[in-house]
Amino acid sequence: MSEQPGTAVGAGSAAGVRIRRASVSDLDGIMSLERSVFGHEAWPEQAMRADMLSEHCYYLVAELVGTDVLVGCAGLMCPVGSGEGDIQTIAVSPMVRGRGVGRVLMADLIGEAASRGASRLFLEVRADNPIAIGLYRALGFHEIGTRAGYYQPDNVDAVTMRLEPVPGGPEVRRVGPVGAEAVQPQTWEEIRKQDGAC
Ligand SMILES: CC(C)(COP(=O)(O)OP(=O)(O)OC[C@H]1O[C@@H](n2cnc3c(N)ncnc32)[C@H](O)[C@@H]1OP(=O)(O)O)[C@@H](O)C(=O)NCCC(=O)NCCS
Repeated sequence: MSEQPGTAVGAGSAAGVRIRRASVSDLDGIMSLERSVFGHEAWPEQAMRADMLSEHCYYLVAELVGTDVLVGCAGLMCPVGSGEGDIQTIAVSPMVRGRGVGRVLMADLIGEAASRGASRLFLEVRADNPIAIGLYRALGFHEIGTRAGYYQPDNVDAVTMRLEPVPGGPEVRRVGPVGAEAVQPQTWEEIRKQDGAC
């Protein structure tokens, strides 16, 4: 999934939207979307630029098909060899929310983390953001703690969430076939059902 900037990536698609790897030339568009979505909580441009230039990071943008109108972005930090990664950001423009763009972006980041050998993924989300929390839960993330008053000046708690094992990552690939399971490779969905995970 680590293709060159500017090429389409293949984890999925959402109607009318094209997902591709971001390059630093997307920085202005990403900052503009981040500021409109996160307001004073948007990252400083300098930090975003450093992330986008880092080999340890992987950023995506979503554009309206046939245009260069940027309607989504998402970023992962996942150094190869560390065994874990962090979802740095995800934002979808209100004009295309609810069409599956966020899910496709997240699925692509998770796939990239797996290909970098991560078995754990972490993220932090405002406790008062049930839509994002719903998206993360639907992808298998679980709450593992809170950081009281993390978001200031709003004084809103941060919920820390973890995805472990990462689908397609080393922990999942290590699951060995036993008995009838040896006939077919075990899929992530099957493993989750056995674990009783939501
Ligand atoms: C969170 C966000 C990225 C979701 O993007 P999206 O493209 O609208 O999400 P999708 O259409 O892919 O929906 C994926 C899941 O999110 C949840 N979701 C999306 N919209 C929802 C809504 N209006 N109400 C409840 N849950 C919702 C659902 O779990 C949904 O899965 P489902 O379609 O199977 O029910 C988007 O709402 C956003 O950018 N919000 C502002 C920025 C933000 O909060 N970022 C996260 C910071 S940690």
